[in-house]
Amino acid sequence: MLKILQITDMHILPEADETLMGVNTDESFAAVLNQAFRQHQHFDLILLTGDLAQTPTPKSYQRIINRLKAYNTACLCLPGNHDDTEVMDKVMNNGNISSAKAHKIENWQIICLNSQIPGSADGALSPAELEFLTRQLEKHSTTPTLIAVHHNCLPTECSWLDTMMIKNSEEFLHIIRQHSQVKLVSTGHIHQEMKRKYHNIPILGTPASCFQFKQESSQFAIDNKPPGYRVLNLENDGSFSTQVYWLDEIAAGLNPALQGY
Ligand SMILES: [Fe+2]
Repeated sequence: MLKILQITDMHILPEADETLMGVNTDESFAAVLNQAFRQHQHFDLILLTGDLAQTPTPKSYQRIINRLKAYNTACLCLPGNHDDTEVMDKVMNNGNISSAKAHKIENWQIICLNSQIPGSADGALSPAELEFLTRQLEKHSTTPTLIAVHHNCLPTECSWLDTMMIKNSEEFLHIIRQHSQVKLVSTGHIHQEMKRKYHNIPILGTPASCFQFKQESSQFAIDNKPPGYRVLNLENDGSFSTQVYWLDEIAAGLNPALQGY
């Protein structure tokens, strides 16, 4: 069994005293790590699904590495719209931390896709990214596969967020539907829990480690919910179970009245 801790959308800033929407995102990330390991003791892997940094400088990524150090756990990461893939690749390949795109771990394959359109908050999967996905799936046609990607490939009920979802998600969904070893897709970006299915493939959204967006809202709005994370238990036979967990309290300093960032 492979026990994975998914943390997403940390939006880390370079300086210790900086905040986003009133939240010290570094402290909020630390609180999520702390509670997850206290509650579950051990993870085989930490999966960071994009928007690791709000300001994507080496200093921001170094802060993430500093927080991870205490847990001595392998970590995979992929970029979100706020990340700088070049800086991320340089800093986030360090010891047991990797930004590589494909991994064979125990009985499973984990594929980390890049849905970033440089300079835009919207998502898309480039022809090269879709080709890579197809190649990996063809090469490991019987290996149970988890696909991780930052942007959502199915709509939420938030129209303002859905303008940013993977533009060519139909192409992506068409590919995964043809490969029965794809067991699930897990994403970030939407700062809320999502649990949907596409032709029996669970499509999951994981809450952010800082603050959440209000569900079923047509415009930008912050929800009254604490930071969260997801635990994925991937079994050797290709089955899995998963659950989202929330911290007890809303991130200190959160100012829900702010209209964006
Ligand atoms: Fe994002």
